[in-house]
Amino acid sequence: MMENKQLKSTKGILLAGGSGTRLYPLTLVSSKQLLPIYDKPMIYYPLTTLMLAGIRDIMIISTPQDIPQIKRLLGDGSDLGLRFEYCVQPKPDGIAQAFILAEEWLDQSPCVLVLGDNLIFAPHLSQLLQKASQRKSGATIFSYQVSDPERYGVVTFDENNKVTQIIEKPTNPPSNWAVTGLYFYDSKVTEYAKCIKPSDRGEYEITDLNQIYLENDDLHVERLGRGCAWLDAGVPASLMQASNFVQMIQARQGILVGSPAEVAYHRGFIDAEQLRKIAKKLLKTDLGRMLMDVANEGLGEKK
Ligand code: G1P
Repeated sequence: MMENKQLKSTKGILLAGGSGTRLYPLTLVSSKQLLPIYDKPMIYYPLTTLMLAGIRDIMIISTPQDIPQIKRLLGDGSDLGLRFEYCVQPKPDGIAQAFILAEEWLDQSPCVLVLGDNLIFAPHLSQLLQKASQRKSGATIFSYQVSDPERYGVVTFDENNKVTQIIEKPTNPPSNWAVTGLYFYDSKVTEYAKCIKPSDRGEYEITDLNQIYLENDDLHVERLGRGCAWLDAGVPASLMQASNFVQMIQARQGILVGSPAEVAYHRGFIDAEQLRKIAKKLLKTDLGRMLMDVANEGLGEKK
């Protein structure tokens, strides 16, 4: 039938689960992804990453206790020209479980998964993401050089820059290239996710899913080089670093980092009037005033 042949548009999954134990007591009563990174809730940053990839259909997956608060903050997405769907992950059983939970909603669409504590700031990020999104088959992941690779998934490359290996949290990391929490997959992702068995720590590992794509010679790795920042806010020190980073860029350059309203406006998901409506509620803050300036075209270039 004609309908089946049509290319489905890419959907986004924002995974805001986990118990945040590495941030205790900050996360004893509050969702990790709602903690502040400088002047915005953490979840705004990965949300803007999905929006920069041009994605408007987004499923937010979180714990039973955190979903109501996230819903209060983000609503149904219509004020940003987006469509949000909410889904409960009953237990923190691993990142790859997201594709099984989202199976029906995904309906075999290609999709992008972003982790709710990841902040990516890079030149021409929007183009980079759209390039990954346009890839017809396979998976695309992003890697970034870090000084503490043992905390992450790690990739190695051969002399032709082809990825040779991907390992989750190795004790002796074979390289400094960490895998970031942003993953693009084709329509086969749910089928592959169902083949994964829980790891020794009892989780459906995203690294095992990427391993399947690697074995099929269909895993693309984009390296984020110098001039890019990838920050995760998983421990108190990285939470602080992320806040300092956002404060510094915003104050120095007068541009916003991680503002869904600004991205929605620049991507044409909402008009200036809607942006003004959002900004009006925040006018006692620098963020609100900057958004109002954007709406009035006084600040920033169209991206
Ligand atoms: C997860 C992934 C890991 C990846 C990291 C990025 O780790 O398992 O491969 O490098 O996210 O933030 P976790 O945060 O679950 O420890």
